[in-house]
Amino acid sequence: MLGNFCYHNPTKLYFGEDSLGFLKDELKNYGSNVLLVYGGGSVKKSGLYDKIVKILKDNGKNIAEVAGVMPNPTVEKLREGVKIARENKSELILAVGGGSVCDYSKALSVSVHCDDDPWDKYYIRFEDPDCEIVPVGCILTMAGTGSEMNGGAVITNHEQHLKIGHVFGDDVMPKFSILDPRYTMTLPKYQMVAGIYDIMNHICEQYFSGEDDNTSDYISEGLMRGLIHASRIAVKDPQDYEARSNIMWTATWALNTLVSRGKSTDWMVHMLGQSAGAYTDATHGMTLAAVSLPYYRYIMPYGVKKFARFAKEVWGISAEGRTDEQLAQEGLNAMESWMKEIGLVMKLSELGATDDMIEGIADGTIILTGGYKVLDRDEVIKILKASM
Ligand code: NZQ
Ligand code: ZN
Repeated sequence: MLGNFCYHNPTKLYFGEDSLGFLKDELKNYGSNVLLVYGGGSVKKSGLYDKIVKILKDNGKNIAEVAGVMPNPTVEKLREGVKIARENKSELILAVGGGSVCDYSKALSVSVHCDDDPWDKYYIRFEDPDCEIVPVGCILTMAGTGSEMNGGAVITNHEQHLKIGHVFGDDVMPKFSILDPRYTMTLPKYQMVAGIYDIMNHICEQYFSGEDDNTSDYISEGLMRGLIHASRIAVKDPQDYEARSNIMWTATWALNTLVSRGKSTDWMVHMLGQSAGAYTDATHGMTLAAVSLPYYRYIMPYGVKKFARFAKEVWGISAEGRTDEQLAQEGLNAMESWMKEIGLVMKLSELGATDDMIEGIADGTIILTGGYKVLDRDEVIKILKASM
């Protein structure tokens, strides 16, 4: 394991059918003014909104709302939420939705009592919060981001063509999250598979780093095998509770800080995908799918042993008669077949990216140094071109 580390995750999880029943117990821990935050309407269509409002009213809460949080939430929407939360003296932010709603609620929680503009403070200057933080609870309706049990809050600034994530500390993570796999079953297939690939890539981003013998890598291999298995079942039958519950639980463990312990971690697929997202506003998981194979094929020679292990342990490819390079390539080929099989978008051009955006996407790609190869700008452009 690399270095010294602390492991602590403060988010309490309630998992399974009927886990919404625990909301009333949690509500006792917070003040009367609840800010209900949700997206573009799926929670109203599914009936979840009405159930939550009833629980809040039965427990004597005053409800204010931020509705219409869009996928890839924007800084303008964040500023609007700050105003509503201040006017209503919100004491608990209850996020009901996918990663966008959860991320947004965390960004809001550190901005309500802060005088600075949140974009400049948290996304340009990357400061830590130094004001009172409003607690966040989360009721998750889409599996993918892991936002339900981490400190991440990704915000998009369309004017500046930037999509940036700030990973806040323990005090910003949701106090509790309610995970009922049934709520994910109304997701359109496109979003379901985008979420599945987001999970897969979160694990890859942490797995493809380091050369040590590391417990996190063994956990990651198990998570990936389980995810691939469940994804195939869920694509055939989205109503399969067992598969959907395994996907939901894997999403949480893929990015709740556990498998990053003792690892340097890569995260370049996310940097490339997020910058492409700032230009196209495309679905997060699809942007990752589009850049992944060009990126991994490019860096593979620098981490060939790990890619060979990935082929063997995750995709079940025999090492017999194969060099590490051959094995590594076959592992990536197997991942490509699986990605096509579940219906992912494999090209940035299909997500609205055009050739004239490439320079700008490269400029917005933050270069991180924890993976097998530190990219320069020319290499970023080469990978982006191969993703078109
Ligand atoms: O807005 P509504 O109407 O609710 O519709 C949403 C949205 O259109 C819909 N949806 C969600 N649950 C549904 C549903 N539709 C029907 N039935 C349901 N049960 O799905 C669409 C996408 O939702 P969204 O929340 O945007 O998806 P996701 O969970 O993938 O979140 C994406 C955001 O999270 C960020 C991404 O960058 C992006 O901004 N990420 C956050 C991370 C973190 N906190 O650690 C890490 C990730 O890598 C990611 O960057
Ligand atoms: Zn992601």
